[in-house]
Amino acid sequence: MVQLLYYYSCVPLWPIVSLAFFISFLSHLLILTAQPEFRDYNCYPKRSNFKNASVYHNNLKAILSNFSSDDTNIEYGFINSSYGQSPNMVYALGFCRGDVKPGPCRTCLHNATIRLPQKCPNRKEAVGIYDDCMFRYSYHPIYGTYKYNISDVRYLWNPANSTKLTGAYVEVQLDKVKSQAPTGESHRRFAAANDTTSKSGDVYAFAQCSPDLSQDDCRSCLQNVYDGIPLCCEGKNGGRVINPSCYIRYESYLFYNYTAVSSQPSSPPSTTVTGPEGGSDSTGSQTSNVVKIIIPVIISVILSCLVGCCLLRRKTRNNSQSILRENFGEEGSNLKSLQFNLVTIEGATNKFSEKNKIGKGGFGEVYKGILPDGREIAVKRLSKSSVQGNLEFKNEILLIAKLQHRNLVTLLGFCLEEQEKILIYEYVPNKSIDFFLFDSEKQSLLTWSERFKIIGGIAQGLSYLHEHSRLKVIHRDLKLSNILLDNKLNPKISNFGMARMISIDEDQGSTNRIVGT
Ligand SMILES: *[C@@H]1O[C@H](CO)[C@@H](O)[C@H](O)[C@H]1NC(C)=O
Ligand SMILES: *[C@@H]1O[C@H](CO)[C@@H](O)[C@H](O)[C@H]1NC(C)=O
Ligand SMILES: *[C@@H]1O[C@H](CO)[C@@H](O)[C@H](O)[C@H]1NC(C)=O
Ligand SMILES: *[C@@H]1O[C@H](CO)[C@@H](O)[C@H](O)[C@H]1NC(C)=O
Ligand SMILES: *[C@@H]1O[C@H](CO)[C@@H](O)[C@H](O)[C@H]1NC(C)=O
Ligand SMILES: *[C@@H]1O[C@H](CO)[C@@H](O)[C@H](O)[C@H]1NC(C)=O
Ligand SMILES: *[C@@H]1O[C@H](CO)[C@@H](O)[C@H](O)[C@H]1NC(C)=O
Ligand SMILES: *[C@@H]1O[C@H](CO)[C@@H](O)[C@H](O)[C@H]1NC(C)=O
Ligand SMILES: *[C@@H]1O[C@H](CO)[C@@H](O)[C@H](O)[C@H]1NC(C)=O
Repeated sequence: MVQLLYYYSCVPLWPIVSLAFFISFLSHLLILTAQPEFRDYNCYPKRSNFKNASVYHNNLKAILSNFSSDDTNIEYGFINSSYGQSPNMVYALGFCRGDVKPGPCRTCLHNATIRLPQKCPNRKEAVGIYDDCMFRYSYHPIYGTYKYNISDVRYLWNPANSTKLTGAYVEVQLDKVKSQAPTGESHRRFAAANDTTSKSGDVYAFAQCSPDLSQDDCRSCLQNVYDGIPLCCEGKNGGRVINPSCYIRYESYLFYNYTAVSSQPSSPPSTTVTGPEGGSDSTGSQTSNVVKIIIPVIISVILSCLVGCCLLRRKTRNNSQSILRENFGEEGSNLKSLQFNLVTIEGATNKFSEKNKIGKGGFGEVYKGILPDGREIAVKRLSKSSVQGNLEFKNEILLIAKLQHRNLVTLLGFCLEEQEKILIYEYVPNKSIDFFLFDSEKQSLLTWSERFKIIGGIAQGLSYLHEHSRLKVIHRDLKLSNILLDNKLNPKISNFGMARMISIDEDQGSTNRIVGT
């Protein structure tokens, strides 16, 4: 019971949910054959329903009753099946958390096949989520397909406020599992990571993809659920973001079988390749050892840089100009007016506080700030992992500074001091278009005439980049999330030119490059 109450979904009416749990708990006592409640489920209300005793209904019943709890075909925790003739074909798919043994896994999936049609009567498509397994059926093929749809994503969190777990501390573990899980071979697309050594409290993280996803789909699925973590779980002691094809979860306690996760895969059937994932956990603890060594080193480097910065800045004002001249040569003088110093930026963003953070990308983090003169700015702090040198940074700034158009986000300046590479843009209040278009409520806020105006604005911005600016620039990463809207809903193209700042995965960054310098 306590476990059942532990989580609730997006519905803010949690007393009602608890009451529902209580009632269902009572009914469990009364009807012994009833299946345990799902943690969460989703019935896709907008999609078509079927009629009782229709062909689809019979096919669904046939496919579900075929999964028995002692079906030894359920190996490595995965079931996949389809039945019937188009257009009444039913597809079903389920998988267990990576560490769950075949016995409990079968029971869990079997329970789900009984519970799900009860929770979603007459619905053609549904997904049910237990702690140990996930199961879904649909009228369209689901095997090996992954398509991101934000309305499919489920958020669960631990309602207790976090006392110790801080965002960054959790993020390290989530990052680890997010990048490790897709590297496993198809029967083991999961990863676990934990840190129990810090004073900030224990963190256990787990990520998994449905075994039918390709590595690439797995990677993008996990990236999407990972990006959802701040939405649900900021400051919470535990949370999960779940897509029908993958999920990511963290807690302050051990919620998976640690020995099962850290042991070698017990040579599942048809495994001909023992992928490098075999030692996934040992690499995990190696990395955390490395982290233990590297973090103090990084901290001391940063500290000494900060001290150095302060000393340098005190010495003479000319110093920052000499950095400019060193890095920008003759053109440095053009750029001088664009240069901000680090102290100003730190002041404007509250020393890059979490509160001011408005976004995160491969290149680094974006903060909102307010300059002493009251101007609102967006501050892009390029990640330190960037291997790009000052020379390329110079090219980017020179390029972007020369682009001025009302449908492009304006670069107000930059800051180049010691370790920091920072770009300062005008602040655009109404977020990117995808926030409107992919949100079923906000969709209606954009009328057709506004949409038309936005489309026209994007076209003008592009036409400027391609034809009328002093340099021909090809954006190469034009997508909804890179089109920002100002408070009059004028579109502004953003995020061009940062690709070469990136030192991480090719597939995330290389499409962002500016050509034509
Ligand atoms: C289908 O049958 C079930 C009981 O067998 C009933 O509860 C449900 O309301 C029926 N649905 C429709 C759409 O007739
Ligand atoms: C049930 O399972 C058996 C054996 O796995 C299979 O031959 C049969 O087609 C299945 N029936 C349905 C309705 O999926
Ligand atoms: C899973 O089911 C689909 C049909 O829905 C089939 O095409 C595919 O071969 C199956 N894959 C496995 C591994 O059973
Ligand atoms: C499945 O249901 C049975 C009976 O309702 C229950 O005892 C069992 O714990 C459930 N198993 C899982 C993994 O949910
Ligand atoms: C996303 O899901 C919603 C609700 O299930 C559906 O109405 C919408 O068409 C889907 N969008 C896409 C792009 O598939
Ligand atoms: C968590 O913190 C928020 C804001 O500080 C507060 O409103 C809420 O009641 C707290 N919840 C719990 C369970 O302590
Ligand atoms: C991970 O958790 C296990 C079990 O709680 C613990 O033995 C191990 O030391 C932890 N590893 C790290 C790196 O904290
Ligand atoms: C955890 O996994 C190990 C190895 O697979 C197994 O021996 C142990 O019984 C499992 N523990 C639980 C509680 O299931
Ligand atoms: C855009 O932002 C302005 C100012 O923040 C706000 O008043 C307006 O409602 C926003 N427009 C939409 C469509 O959200």
